[in-house]
Amino acid sequence: MIALGSDHAGFGLKEKIKQYLEKKGLEIKDYGCFSEESVDYPDYAEKVARAVSSNEAEKGILICGTGIGMSIAANKVSGIRAAVCWDEKSAEMSRRHNDANILCIGARLIDQELALKIVDIWLSTDFDGGRHVKRVKKINAITYE
Ligand code: RB5
Repeated sequence: MIALGSDHAGFGLKEKIKQYLEKKGLEIKDYGCFSEESVDYPDYAEKVARAVSSNEAEKGILICGTGIGMSIAANKVSGIRAAVCWDEKSAEMSRRHNDANILCIGARLIDQELALKIVDIWLSTDFDGGRHVKRVKKINAITYE
């Protein structure tokens, strides 16, 4: 299952991504928000990040105005590697080298067509493993004081 979340700035793009993934037959769960009424992005970042960190969801996609607030908030949850991606290459590399488990997109910065390409590449690219395994393990070992 793919967990989806957004704030008001990302709501429209989240709906597009949801339709797109459902059409492809993927199982998704929408953690909100559910309208363009103003909300606070950390609330939705936390819901999706906890779903991924508990393995309820395999991966997550979070959308806000820039993707930045969502990534900062999601990365507070243990085991989360949330990456803001803005083009095909950043989407590919965040999976291959960082094993990113949450994709963050800025709905106010990129158009919908590019966003759907990013989603496709991000979901279909595997982690390279190899020399990157020990680096990702080191990320996971960092603790908050
Ligand atoms: C909302 O105005 C905006 O601040 C939010 O969507 C996001 O871009 C934060 O990082």
